[in-house]
Amino acid sequence: MSDLKKDITILAIESSCDETAASVVVNGRQVLSNVISSQIDIHTLYGGVVPEIASRKHTERVTQVIRESLEEAGRKLEEMDAIAVTYGPGLVGPLLIGVSAAKGLSFATGIPLIGVHHIEGHISANYIAEPTLEPPFACLVVSGGHTHLVLVRDYGEYEILGRTQDDAAGEAFDKVAREIGLGYPGGPKIDKASREGDPHAIVFPRGKVSGSRYDFSFSGMKSAVLNYLNTSRMKGISVNVPDVAASFQQAVVDVLVSHAGDAIEQYGLKKFALAGGVAANTALRTGMKEMCAEKGADFFCPPPVLCTDNAAMIGSAAYFEYVKGNFSGLDLNAVPGLRLGQR
Ligand code: KG4
Ligand code: ZN
Repeated sequence: MSDLKKDITILAIESSCDETAASVVVNGRQVLSNVISSQIDIHTLYGGVVPEIASRKHTERVTQVIRESLEEAGRKLEEMDAIAVTYGPGLVGPLLIGVSAAKGLSFATGIPLIGVHHIEGHISANYIAEPTLEPPFACLVVSGGHTHLVLVRDYGEYEILGRTQDDAAGEAFDKVAREIGLGYPGGPKIDKASREGDPHAIVFPRGKVSGSRYDFSFSGMKSAVLNYLNTSRMKGISVNVPDVAASFQQAVVDVLVSHAGDAIEQYGLKKFALAGGVAANTALRTGMKEMCAEKGADFFCPPPVLCTDNAAMIGSAAYFEYVKGNFSGLDLNAVPGLRLGQR
């Protein structure tokens, strides 16, 4: 897409939640290194991400993670064409650690800085996974904080068709997992438990938002699971955890797949992509793939390591900003509530 004469190599940093990550990416598609230091072990003790602890861990780890990413890539900091960093949305403290590190490196070296939108990063993971993928396409972004059905009209140009009206899909997975005793992080645990369960054992409601074809609602599904658990306890009936996990997962997957299918039909889409941590879910990947095949659309989905938070996706999104000459000043700040399409 670009008429740039040389390869563009970008160092990217991601610290919006509980992963400290750095990556070196060439031309938005070729990953030379992808270092991820996860804090899951610590936050598991508290049943979810504790922002203050996350900030402290990012502070401890960010320099080492950046150093490792350059070493693994076999590149020097001075060889970078840009330094990219997630500046929102996310937790303000964790975001500030990455933003400060990136600004410090940019200031010290004179290498340009690029602030990246976290969700644009998730979408861009598809450009890495499928180097021939180009817009336009539609993308379902499902993570711990977001559920967006997006039309990607061009690089960096988005139209949001639908979003969640309450919980994000990943948040619903995490809350239900906690209630059925699987712990944090809930998504991967429900995914695993579901393999032993019957997805049709219990019929949980498929959340609908009246008057809006593409918006999502997951809080009713979550409440239905809680009601089921309470009723079972009161009646002294033992709960089959794999069945509850599989039935809840099926309800979420059905809603996501049906909204995606409607969009493919209404907009005559030929390409559909998945992104975000919940895109690592086995049942969702299978359901989307089958639905896309039925409707004659090509299906794209990054490998799980590029679905959950990582910096390679940030380096990819940053490349397309670089090409457009969209750089950030040293006044770049963390924007916890940054919206898609806002800069
Ligand atoms: O994209 P991500 O790493 O962080 C955010 O930007 O939020 O997504 C994390 C979310 C968590 O809610 C986690 O439970 C969920 O993704 N997740 C999964 C799976 N792996 C991670 N949900 C369902 N199935 C999975 N295999
Ligand atoms: Zn994320």
